[in-house]
Amino acid sequence: MNEIIESIKQSTIEIKNIIVKGDTGKSEQQNSTGDTQLKLDIASDRVIENNFKKLASIKQIVSEEQDYIIDINENGKYLIAYDPLDGSSLVDVNLSVGSIYGIYEKSFEGQNIIGAVYVVFGPRVEMVVCDGKSVKLYRMDENKNFNFTQDLTMNKKGTISSPGSTQQCWYDNHRTMINTMFQEGYELSYSGGMVPDLHHVLLRGGGLFSYPGASDKPNGKLRQLFEVFPFAFIFETAGGASSDGSQSALKIKTTHIHDTSPCFLGSSDEIDMVHQYYKQS
Ligand code: AHG
Ligand code: MN
Ligand code: MN
Repeated sequence: MNEIIESIKQSTIEIKNIIVKGDTGKSEQQNSTGDTQLKLDIASDRVIENNFKKLASIKQIVSEEQDYIIDINENGKYLIAYDPLDGSSLVDVNLSVGSIYGIYEKSFEGQNIIGAVYVVFGPRVEMVVCDGKSVKLYRMDENKNFNFTQDLTMNKKGTISSPGSTQQCWYDNHRTMINTMFQEGYELSYSGGMVPDLHHVLLRGGGLFSYPGASDKPNGKLRQLFEVFPFAFIFETAGGASSDGSQSALKIKTTHIHDTSPCFLGSSDEIDMVHQYYKQS
């Protein structure tokens, strides 16, 4: 898996340059989820695909920005699903964005994820790497080296609530749960970019990030393979938990590579609370 991490570092350096000088305009295209693709999305996707194509260990890749699975090496071991630039629409208001990678064996399914990486393009460029045993934070320095900073672990109960999805479309049980959290003193943190929002929850030791199903999007908005599963793997490895509202998100059965799912990620106590509110509904 090392050559994959090295490739992600190289792509990160190239994507950072694209963000700094790139055109944040819209392309004429849409991706499989119907999102209008920004030129940044397409340029970042091209960087990652070209770098992954050089690796003998990769069998197939799936990108948020491409409709179909791409075959790389038939003898490759790893399958990688990635979101080249999550929250890309936030670049033109200078908020943090990120890249997300899920590394799978055998098939693109939550139960077969064996590694996850995300990169935060914020005031600093940071990379988090998870191999199922630990969650490690690296920071890019002025020489483009990625230096290990710390292992990340989560408290049993946290202090942050990061509530996504369109509030006017929330189901009653969800609205009651979120309101109760704020009445109990949880701190609100939501930028609209899941990578910095989840990085915040993870680095502050815990809480709850939620992007639920709602009347406008009953299956949520976040894509299973390259948004939900990588973060579920990271949060569960760090001692937190994930859910689709009733079970670990990693137990979800994927039927299409762009499938979405309701998504809850956080400390174990907060995920237990989600199950209480969602079991009743
Ligand atoms: P992407 O930019 O890759 O399409 O993903 C954006 C996602 C995610 O970053 C965030 O949690 C969510 O969109 C926010 O959605 P809303 O704007 O509907 O809150
Ligand atoms: Mn995304
Ligand atoms: Mn994206």
